[in-house]
Amino acid sequence: GSTLKAAAERSGRYFGAAMGGDRLSDSGFLTIANREFDMMTAVNEMKPDATEPNSGQFTFSSGDAIYNWATQHGMRVRGHTLAWHAQQPRFWANLSGSSLRAAMIEHINGVMAHYKGKLAYWDVVNEAFAENGSRRSSNLQSTGNDWIEVAFRTARAADPSVKLCYNDYNIENWTYAKTQGVYNMIRDFKSRGVPIDCVGLQTHFTGGSSLPSNFQTTLSSFAALGVDVALTEADVTNASTSQYGGLTQACMSVPRCVGITTWGIRDSDSWRGSENPLLFDRNSSPKPAYTSVLNAL
Ligand code: XIL
Repeated sequence: GSTLKAAAERSGRYFGAAMGGDRLSDSGFLTIANREFDMMTAVNEMKPDATEPNSGQFTFSSGDAIYNWATQHGMRVRGHTLAWHAQQPRFWANLSGSSLRAAMIEHINGVMAHYKGKLAYWDVVNEAFAENGSRRSSNLQSTGNDWIEVAFRTARAADPSVKLCYNDYNIENWTYAKTQGVYNMIRDFKSRGVPIDCVGLQTHFTGGSSLPSNFQTTLSSFAALGVDVALTEADVTNASTSQYGGLTQACMSVPRCVGITTWGIRDSDSWRGSENPLLFDRNSSPKPAYTSVLNAL
């Protein structure tokens, strides 16, 4: 029979999952990962606190373990993430202003040098907008409104071969203020030549049985700015078949929607485990949502 990755590859797309380092010894997880997925994201192992625990001291063993397994099994890897308000190195808490800005730049350079030429995408900046469409307040935002474009310029210079993405959640509904805030930033970046290649929509759906009906409009509107789009962390309350089918269809309808990643494989892998939001159950069996995704690819 077909698989998620085979079906996605028919249209030049990928189908990805996220994995934590603890899954490297979980044969149930690895069997499905190897069979169904062709892109992998590390759940926590490439985040700033993991890769630079102390100033200038980089540690890549956990991220590399995931990278090595994935690439040895023919998958590509999405890097996640370089600059974020959460999961920061502890020493960043003692920095602000120009010293924090310098630490962010040093972090991007240090991590990207290690993975230079190896990754398909980097989530350069994660979750920088507030729900009302303005910038989220954070220590990074307090270094100056240009911190995001500085992060992207630094990233392009560090590794010109990897696609550079902005990634966020609650930007799926086109009429939502946060979606518009991110859209306006991407439009501004493209108009001024700030290097950016893609927008990741996390796609953590909660409640309800239907998708925002304008989800496809959001994807095509971002794409029209000249960036790729991707669904980067999909999970859906109770794995609603209609929402999973709908989000897959939305991606398939937009030529620049390059792929879909689910945030884990089985419900037992999920950070929202009590909501059973993934495509495989705790016994590693595909759920009805698996079939609705596969049929829509
Ligand atoms: C989550 C991980 O799944 C958890 O293990 C961790 O404790 C917190 O982060 N948006 C993101 C991801 O971009 O990095 C988050 O991952 C989920 C929300």
